[in-house]
Amino acid sequence: MSEDRDGKSTRQEGDSFFVQLDGDRSRSRTVESAKGVYLYYSDGSRLMDASGGPVVVNIGYGRQAVADAAYQQMSKIAFSYETAIIRELFAKLDQFTPDGMSRFYPLTGGSEAVEAAIRFARHYHLHTGSTDKFKVIGRWSSYHGYTIGAASVTGNVLRRQGFEPLLLPFPHIDPCYCFRCPFRLEYPGCNLLCADKLEETILREGPDTIAAFIAEPIVGASGGCLVPPDDYFLRIQEICSKYNVLLIIDEVMTGFGRTGTNFCIEQFGIVPDMITTAKGMTSGYAPMGMLIVNEKLMAPEEPRVEGFGSISTYSYHPVSAAVACAVLDILAEEQLVERSRKLGSYMFNALEKLKSHPNVADIRGRGLFAGVELVRSRSDNQPYDRDAKFAQRVLDNCKSKGISFYSGTGMAPGLTGEHIMIAPPFVITEEEIDTCVAVLEQGITEVAIELN
Ligand SMILES: Cc1ncc(COP(=O)(O)O)c(C=O)c1O
Repeated sequence: MSEDRDGKSTRQEGDSFFVQLDGDRSRSRTVESAKGVYLYYSDGSRLMDASGGPVVVNIGYGRQAVADAAYQQMSKIAFSYETAIIRELFAKLDQFTPDGMSRFYPLTGGSEAVEAAIRFARHYHLHTGSTDKFKVIGRWSSYHGYTIGAASVTGNVLRRQGFEPLLLPFPHIDPCYCFRCPFRLEYPGCNLLCADKLEETILREGPDTIAAFIAEPIVGASGGCLVPPDDYFLRIQEICSKYNVLLIIDEVMTGFGRTGTNFCIEQFGIVPDMITTAKGMTSGYAPMGMLIVNEKLMAPEEPRVEGFGSISTYSYHPVSAAVACAVLDILAEEQLVERSRKLGSYMFNALEKLKSHPNVADIRGRGLFAGVELVRSRSDNQPYDRDAKFAQRVLDNCKSKGISFYSGTGMAPGLTGEHIMIAPPFVITEEEIDTCVAVLEQGITEVAIELN
């Protein structure tokens, strides 16, 4: 949420989980505590958080074990680059990540992890003789963060708007958005033209200049859970390998069990060169991001790079590391990744009934990560005009009924297109999922009636 000159709040997409501050801040309610999937407010009200904030709180709110781990670590040693806890975290991550993804560079959030991946790509090519390689290709309808490098590879036009003069001139290709295929083709007849566009772009820009390609495995807030066909990333990896382009998979939103496996890319049968991640790793209990690099880039044989020194003051933070260790323990002990997969199936079954709703065009995702694309009418799948703020009004409606979701806009032609995401903490129950779906259905219906 941002503020205008009078100090009034001006709301943007995805603001629904923020406390709404009006002119008089003293009268605004605040979140006092939280447990499981519920937030408890100072005015005595309760809200079911069906997106875990901006898709962060994988293990659920109010975990005493995580608070204890943070307290104990802070009591022992709150700041040093040489603590045992950071080594413990690397050992745990080594077990949790895909084979070979075993070099860890801790940071303080997702944007920084993406920034570090861009730097690493440049660092790698500099040290392996491809000194002209520096560009990173991104995709339209993507989000990779707000820092300048991360914003430059980001393809969400609304989030780039106004900042273009500051951004690096990196190329973008179309996303894999089958529901509104940019090429008006259908899988498998399309023969993955959208993936082949990567090769075309590399050749047009000059392969000697391209350092890396970055993509979310399932596009989050900028697309509403866009799932590519199973062979999309295989083709992408082939193209990257052919031109010595590093493949960065951005799992800031999809990592740590969100889509039903530890990392989402595992479901597409490839191991990338780098993974960027954050959010679910600490589940919001402390800030932390991580750049994970494939060991093969740093192996003793050529080509290789020596260590990578891109760190900031709070990289390796012991308290965040203790929190991440406690989160990983909870994920394992309570088999929460499996729970995300199983309850994900339940959620997609429950969402089936929304498929016939006149304002629901598409439902997609994996695990506990669902996107519901909204339209004015299913007859032509035209979205509402942006001014109608359909998705935002649905969010407000559902919030007034006690449930918050997450939304995004701008993925359809003309920067229209709206979706609502359901991405609850993994501790949600089947009954609570049913309530979410019922409230969402009612919210969409009521707002559509208001608008028509
Ligand atoms: C896929 C993806 N990458 C990067 C980021 C940026 O992460 P952060 O907000 O922690 O800087 C986000 C944030 O939503 C994201 O969804």
